[in-house]
Amino acid sequence: MSYNIQITKVEQSRVDTLDFDNIPLGTSFTDHMFICDYDNGEWGNPRIEPLKPIPTHPAAMALHYGQAIFEGMKAYKDSDNIPMLFRPYQNAKRLNLSANRMGMPNVPEELFVEGLTELVALEHHWIPPQLGSALYLRPFMYADEAFIGMRAATRYKFIIMASPAGPFFSKRIKLWAEKQFIRAAQGGTGEAKAAGNYAAAIRPTELAKAKGYDQVLWLDAAEHKYIQEVGTMNIFFKINGEFITPKLDGSVLDGITRKSVIDLLQDKGYKVTERLIAIDEIKEASKNGTLEEAFGTGTAVGIAYIQSIGTDEGEIYISDESPVGIDVNDTLNAIKTGKIEDKFGWMTKIE
Ligand code: COI
Repeated sequence: MSYNIQITKVEQSRVDTLDFDNIPLGTSFTDHMFICDYDNGEWGNPRIEPLKPIPTHPAAMALHYGQAIFEGMKAYKDSDNIPMLFRPYQNAKRLNLSANRMGMPNVPEELFVEGLTELVALEHHWIPPQLGSALYLRPFMYADEAFIGMRAATRYKFIIMASPAGPFFSKRIKLWAEKQFIRAAQGGTGEAKAAGNYAAAIRPTELAKAKGYDQVLWLDAAEHKYIQEVGTMNIFFKINGEFITPKLDGSVLDGITRKSVIDLLQDKGYKVTERLIAIDEIKEASKNGTLEEAFGTGTAVGIAYIQSIGTDEGEIYISDESPVGIDVNDTLNAIKTGKIEDKFGWMTKIE
């Protein structure tokens, strides 16, 4: 299906002002955005316009009741300079999972992918060629109906922005196992990529940083015993040769990097188990020498290697090296930039 996306271009691109060797995540934006309106039960007027502020009514329901969801994904270039998207239909599906949980309308998958494709085709010169860099794409939806009252909005905007980004963490990270605050509870919104989940994580993250840690390690809401996620990433541990990662129980985000890393680890011959993981099990494995490495996975960050976990009862040392994490990261980057065969069929070329 083709959505007849209307394109209005900027007169002069700003791309020449970008220092491609120094692009902190989320600080630079490309010239254009994709935008589409939901009204009267359907999406309409899909268009690409110069990126600019959007007039918002002060009663826009997203501002009051938090109907706001988003996705994170990246575009890369292969060695022939062809732009490529990484698993875009997975993001389309997850956006709709988030929309369902938050009482928002679905975006047809084809509209999602066509909007992305047209935007990236127009902005391809913003894709940084440096290894570990990419064009971060931020599809998001929010309720822009002006109404005071508690019900699902009837008007929404679906927008895609693009933001070139360099590598994220350059060093091994230290986590703080959080027992006072929680990220998600059973039956809550943890598996949705809802803006409010991130808002609730800001203060605990600031407190962890003030203690000298990089990210929060989130524990379950009921007992503060089982590991859920780390910061804005999923987490993997290698114990005695086997990889384990928290199972998806509705409170953990179904990460697209997470599922890709599971496939790659299995392809490399490792056993990967998705199950409950108690923080005490990690402490014990660290003590008895079976904890070999751990890393976080996410779109923005890629793979972040974990050095240690701070707890109320002291530090859990993990490792100073992550040989398998580094190998998986290299393979993932090679697939994303077309340097090795895409045998999983993850890349969508934009030609
Ligand atoms: C992502 O990894 O894409 C995210 O959404 C995390 C974000 C807070 C940068």
